[in-house]
Amino acid sequence: MKKKFIGANWKMNLLQPELEVLLQELSTNSINEDSIEFVIFPSQIYLADCINRSNLTFGAQDIHSENNGAFTGAVSAEQVKSTGARFVLVGHSERRSVFQENNTLIKNKVNAALNNSLGLVFCCGESLDKREKALEKEFVLSQLEEGVLHLSGQHVAKCIIAYEPIWAIGTGKVANNHQIEGMHNFIRETLINKYGYEIAHAVRIIYGGSCTTDNAKEIFALNNVDGGLIGGASLNFESMNTLLNSF
Ligand code: 13P
Repeated sequence: MKKKFIGANWKMNLLQPELEVLLQELSTNSINEDSIEFVIFPSQIYLADCINRSNLTFGAQDIHSENNGAFTGAVSAEQVKSTGARFVLVGHSERRSVFQENNTLIKNKVNAALNNSLGLVFCCGESLDKREKALEKEFVLSQLEEGVLHLSGQHVAKCIIAYEPIWAIGTGKVANNHQIEGMHNFIRETLINKYGYEIAHAVRIIYGGSCTTDNAKEIFALNNVDGGLIGGASLNFESMNTLLNSF
């Protein structure tokens, strides 16, 4: 059976002492590993330390598209892999907007992740402007076409696609069930058209954007929602614990 996926994207939060406390609390949590894959994405600087301290699974929030070279401040997929991290986020809307990452760069990062056998969490999602103009599906389709649909069926089957409408990230404005299910169904249909039923259904499509203890159970029960990518609510043990038990 396909496992549900829950990612805790800690973004640029937590100092070492706070991180240690949260990690300790989360390590004692009894997650049903047969049905849920739980992955934490801490700041890159703490990644190796987290892996050494805990039995949980970790991923990087970003990678460079090259394996090595003169790229001051950057971290490669090969370096991430060498820490023991297993996943990477690529194409998060904050990378796209704050760091001006375009679809070409994101595609190169996708390839770097897969070439280094990292589990890929590919993020996509529209702005409020696109949603208001009813262009959200067209926009997400272009992100998929330019970021992941060049992959072989074998590769894409292992990917996780995170639908995160930009207007719902960190705003407290959660997308409604109709909007979430509509986009998740659309992404699944796009995958079916390209790769066929079996491969398309192996892909996990997760939702992110103001997911909290108040709405997670309802969201995770929607058709074609295979889990969540959690920002703010992942920084607190009680809320993260509740989210992990929301299936
Ligand atoms: P919030 O849960 O804080 O809205 O963040 C979502 C997100 O960006 C996860 O990657």
